[in-house]
This record gives sequence, structure tokens and C-alpha cells, in this order.
Amino acid sequence: KQIDPCTLVLFGASGNLSRVKLMPGLFRLDALGRLPEKMAILSVGRSEVSLEAWRADIKGMLDAKFKKGYDQKVFERFIARNFYHANPPTDPNAFAKMKDKLSDEATFPQNLAFFLSVRPSDFAQVVDQLAEVGLTNEDKYWRRVVIEKPFGTNLPSAKELQASISKHLKESQIYRIDHYLGKSALQNILLQRFANTVLEPIWNSEYIDHVQITNTEMLGVGDRTQFYDATGALRDMIQSHVLQTLALTTMEQPKDLSPDAVRAEKIKVLEAIRPIPVNDIEHHAFRAQYAAGEINGEKVPGYLEELGDSSSVVETYAALKLFIDNPRWKGVPFYIRTAKRLHEADTRICIRFKKAPLQIGNGQHQNWLIIGIQPRECIKLEIESKIPGLDINTRTIELDAANRQDGDETVDAYEALLLNLMEGDNSQYLHISEVEAQWRLVDPVIEAWAKDRKPVHQYPAGSRDPEASKVIFEHEDQFWRYSIQLGGDAH
Ligand code: BG6
Repeated sequence: KQIDPCTLVLFGASGNLSRVKLMPGLFRLDALGRLPEKMAILSVGRSEVSLEAWRADIKGMLDAKFKKGYDQKVFERFIARNFYHANPPTDPNAFAKMKDKLSDEATFPQNLAFFLSVRPSDFAQVVDQLAEVGLTNEDKYWRRVVIEKPFGTNLPSAKELQASISKHLKESQIYRIDHYLGKSALQNILLQRFANTVLEPIWNSEYIDHVQITNTEMLGVGDRTQFYDATGALRDMIQSHVLQTLALTTMEQPKDLSPDAVRAEKIKVLEAIRPIPVNDIEHHAFRAQYAAGEINGEKVPGYLEELGDSSSVVETYAALKLFIDNPRWKGVPFYIRTAKRLHEADTRICIRFKKAPLQIGNGQHQNWLIIGIQPRECIKLEIESKIPGLDINTRTIELDAANRQDGDETVDAYEALLLNLMEGDNSQYLHISEVEAQWRLVDPVIEAWAKDRKPVHQYPAGSRDPEASKVIFEHEDQFWRYSIQLGGDAH
């Protein structure tokens, strides 16, 4: 796609996201020849830094990221695009000065994208200040604002943020990030579903017993204890990444792949998810915390120890049972879960089909179709097949196709999202209705959990799902698929 000459204004440029993802991502786009010739990057930070020092800092970021080195020519082109502006919070004229700086048209193309990699509590204020100095008005040139996750901490705060920024920005100017949408494997879900004819006819309640969407990590909360304890797994992962994965798995076919068409279908399905009944929460939602245990043979502390507060009831494991009230998904349970410090790091969609008409002997498995998202991008189908020999019996074999082939490009989610931003394609960004539907769903559970101060279930770091989590299953013969490996459904 054609990209207009533009300037990316990066707030919070010295922060971690910018160092690890945004700067290296922009550099890679430059190396791939995907940045327009006329494109500048203005980094904005609180402290005074000379242009020379800032450019040296960027070199450090790239050296740290690309250990095997990089093309010197590309580096020179890239570094020449980079500028710095100090925006001290104490200076009432800081934004006016920034505007002055940007008015140098020879250096800064006038289409402006503002990437707010700042504290979420500052989003609204930064947009107000941009508007005050007239930098949000689209006249001859476009103006776009990227808001990082989280967009609010619950439905009321998301609405408040929206009310505030929409005083200055149209929906088409707001780019709300869920970085999972930049992952190639997630973008593949729609293609696999709708660019084939074999899947869609069985993608419904007539054939599907239930669906599991899983996103587990072996990492703990690390040094983010305070943030995490104010957040929890449901807010951190389910409200965003896991529900987006669910939406892509379950939405109807959009009329085309245009941003409006894709997002309209996602909104519809997210809004069709049945609210979780708060009076029966224990059969629909389960939470737990990791205790001390072992990860890769090494002893690691439990969550409460890391936090230094044994009264916390904040979950590091969250599982929900959901139903979608539309004809396609009538009666099909969706079990979605996320966890830190589980036995494996794996993100996947596992679809379990109904019992086959012909039952032979015991132990016959119901078919699974598995879409691996990370670390392995794959699609697998497990089917029953005769064991060769004199007897009539079956075993499970698998068709297993890796999506990634030798020589395929590895693109980081942020690279894809930054490119889309400059192209003006917001299909991989969230519409406000998606954000709201996601909060609407999780808020009642978060509230009920916060009120219930009983000690939370514990699972040793490095273990599988806590036994007690099975309470959310609809039927006795449903159980967690714990791995994408063949046999990963043995209970
Ligand atoms: C972030 C969460 O949004 O996603 C983190 O805040 C989580 O807690 C991360 O670790 C996972 O992202 P990825 O891309 O590593 O799967």
C-alpha cells in the first residue's frame, strides 16, 4: 500500500516499549524498504537530550536488539530520520514548542501520527494538550493517535477516556493497540477459516463439542508486581488478547477484509457473548495463584512471596466458560484461560468435535483441530485410524502442518502495527465497541473476585492446571487440553 510522507511522534521514546519494540521495529521496516522516503521520527521525552546523544542512544537500542549486526547504509538512512524534542512536564508551553518544531516542513512531513507510549493515566491529558495547540485537527493532512493497552481499567474508565479523547478525535483517527492483532498467527485465523472450503461447514454447534482458547506463560510477573497486583490475569490477558483470539475464531465471514467490515463482525460476536451469571460465578469463572515451584528445573518463588503481601487475592491463573448467543454457536461452551508460571508457554485454539456416529471399543478419542499460535504456528487435525493388524481397533494419528517454513520472514507484531498505522489501515486496531464489549464481559467477574477475600487456590509454578479449575466444565467428559502434542488430552 502507498504510504504518505509522514512524521511519527513518539511519546515515551526512552521507555522500554520504544527501546525493545518500536525503534527496532521502525528500523526493520526501513531495512525492508517499507518506510516512505519522506518519513521522520520525532522522539519526545521529559529530559533534555542533545540530538547527538539521542542518536547514540538509538544506536545502542539497535545494537542490543540486532546482535548479529545490521546494514550500515540502512542505519545511516534510519538515523537521519530521527530527531528529539524535550517536553518537560513542568513547562506549560512544552506542546506549543513541539508544534513549532514540527512546523519545519522540510524536516517533518505534515501528516502526523502520535504514538503514546506513556502511563495510561496520562493518555487523556496528552490528547488534550495536542488538541490545545491544534495538532489533532485534520485539514490538509492526516492526524492519528495511537493509544497503548490498557484502554481504561474497567468499562466506566474506558468510557471516560473515550469521552475525553473523542472531544478532539474522530474514531478513524484513534488507533487502540492490542499487540496480538499484529501477530501473523492471529491474522492467519481468518485466512484459514475463510480461504478454505473444508473448515467453515463444520465450524459450528452441529459438529463442535466445545472450544478451548489457551494462552499460558512460564514467566512469572517479574518486576511488575505492583502493576500486576492492581491488574490480575483477567484484566491483563483475557480482556484483551484472549477475547480477541476468541472473536477471530468465532466471528462470521466479513463481506471483505476492509477494516470496517472485519471490525463490524468482531463487534457483533463480542456483543453476542452471554454475560457471566454473577449468581453462579463459581461454575463459570475460576482463579488461582502460582505458589513456589520449579520452572525448567529451577526453583522459583510463589506470587505472594514475590509481592510480599500474603493477603492478595489477585489471580495469576484465570479461566472462564463462555457461551455465544447466536445460531452458529448455540450451546457450545468456550473455555478460555490464561496463566503465568504454568508448565508450558503455549497459545493455541483447540476445537473438540462431537462423538463420531460409530463407536469402536473404548478410549476412542473425539477429534481435535488445533491451531497453534505461539511458539509454534501450526494447524493440526487429530483423527482416529485403524491400528494395522488382525484386530479392529483405532488409535489417534495426526495431520500436522507447520505454518512457518524455512526462509519465511519473522515479523514482530509491532512492526506490522506500525506499518498499518502509517498506511491508515486500522483493521488490526481495536474499535471502541470492541474494547467496551470486552470490559462489559469481564468487569462483573473482576468485581466479584475483588470482594471475595477468601484465600485463592494455589498451583505450584511449573504445574498443569489446578484440579479445582475443572469446576467450570459443563460435562464430565470435558477436560483441559494441556498441550498441542498428540496425547495432550489425556486426563
Ligand atoms: C501483555 C501482558 O499485554 O502481553 C503481559 O501485559 C504478557 O503480562 C504479554 O506477558 C504477552 O505477550 P506475548 O506477545 O509475549 O505473548
